[in-house]
Amino acid sequence: MAQTVSAVIGGSPVEDAPAGRFSSTNPAHLDEVVADVALGDAPLLVTAARAARQAQRAWAAVPAPIRGRAIAHIGRLVEANKEELARLVSREIGKPYPEALGEVQEIIDTCDFFLGEGRRLYGQTVPSEMPDKQLFTFRNPVGVVAVITAGNFPVAVPSWYIVPALLCGNAVVWKPAEYSAAAAAAFHELFCRGGGLPPGVFNVVYADGQQTYAGLEQALDAGLVDKVGFTGSTEVGARIGELAGRHLQSACLELGGKNPMVVTPNADLDLAVEGALFAGFGTAGQRCTSLGTVICHESVHDEFLIRFDLATSAAAVGDPFADVLYGPMLDSRFAERFEKYLGWIGPAHKVLGSTGIGRITPANPRAGFVGDPEAGLFYHPTIVDGVRPGDEIFDQETFGPLVGVATYQSLDEAIELANAPGYGLSSSVYTNDAREAFSFRQGVSAGMVSVNNSTSGAEAHLPFGGNGKSGNGSRQSGIWVLDQFTRWQALNWDYSGRLQKAQMDVVELTPDLEFRL
Ligand code: UN1
Repeated sequence: MAQTVSAVIGGSPVEDAPAGRFSSTNPAHLDEVVADVALGDAPLLVTAARAARQAQRAWAAVPAPIRGRAIAHIGRLVEANKEELARLVSREIGKPYPEALGEVQEIIDTCDFFLGEGRRLYGQTVPSEMPDKQLFTFRNPVGVVAVITAGNFPVAVPSWYIVPALLCGNAVVWKPAEYSAAAAAAFHELFCRGGGLPPGVFNVVYADGQQTYAGLEQALDAGLVDKVGFTGSTEVGARIGELAGRHLQSACLELGGKNPMVVTPNADLDLAVEGALFAGFGTAGQRCTSLGTVICHESVHDEFLIRFDLATSAAAVGDPFADVLYGPMLDSRFAERFEKYLGWIGPAHKVLGSTGIGRITPANPRAGFVGDPEAGLFYHPTIVDGVRPGDEIFDQETFGPLVGVATYQSLDEAIELANAPGYGLSSSVYTNDAREAFSFRQGVSAGMVSVNNSTSGAEAHLPFGGNGKSGNGSRQSGIWVLDQFTRWQALNWDYSGRLQKAQMDVVELTPDLEFRL
């Protein structure tokens, strides 16, 4: 049964839908509406930012260890609702249930990490260059944080922003993806109830991209937003970053990827195939960390391709509640875009991996499909061999179940190919040679490097983020994200009773620099 989802601002639901209504459907059963969503508009986002502004100072005055306790309770409540929330995620975006459970676990892990940070959130005591003077540093919250997230990780990725933002004493306005609104509403409720959060500390608004951008601009102009976090496409991220920059802010950006996996001559090929299968086709290739191109040494290319094709052809695709590698596309907009990417396959390419290309239907069947393909947005896994720089398939992110394969001769060439598309999120190398592993690490432009492991599946307490077209260098997770949601404040306290001028009233010892042994 469809639930009704609407904005919650200052602790109260906003029933009206100034920008109309949106149906969030189950992509595995398109006739099932999961949520009937009341869409907000730009002024509603400004209202939410104002509510956050009003609540923020009192929230920042709550001692950090107590905010940490709130995060602890949120984590426990999410844990108690793990299966229910995971089922909702699977139903709304078609993520296989075990992966959805992993996604919810990522919220719990994030809470587990940050609950202790409430008792740390360390500043420093720093020696002064003058006597009777002491220096200190403090982490201050930035203020109001606007978080805009995609729906491929509808609850885990939001937690990467919202948990540390709240812990650090910020108030939040969250704009989740419309097509994952039911999961977002459940997340919001678990956080508000579990954390005992005062009204206005955590607000949620559902809106389309255009209204969100307009509302964000107005809220920034009105001085109501101090930090923007955005996870989504490179194209939109560039616009958000530009908007934030015009307001002298640096956004926290987590954007697309064209994540390479280099398979070297001495790689364990079966392990590499297993990694490529999960990285390329898990989540139907709809992770920012999904594998883009396998860059295979010429000596192992043919054997790798045979094994990768076999494994991909044998993989179960279909009903996300069954035992499958992947389910449907997240939403119709992703299916449409994926069709465009498939149009980039050219005569120089060799296609493998399935019994067809494109949408799986009775007329275009996938051997071993689990369930009714016509009920949802299911696509064949597609391996495209022979991709090179200059091919759109090589150069661009192709969000969906498509993996390119290229060939290299020297490791330098492999690194050049890995960096060529200009993204820099995740990367992987399969090798048993330490020299190759570290040379790759040093040469690759990615923010994250796996050795003998998938490009996806980062752990929740290592810095997560990218370079180039994948982001502006901001990092999420672990201690590193604290710099996104706090500003350092330096305090100097002179208790000498006189004005001691820095650099000038400093005692100099007299060294004997001419001395030699
Ligand atoms: C994303 O797709 O936006 O490393 C994030 C991974 C996940 C997160 C992906 N933990 O694949």
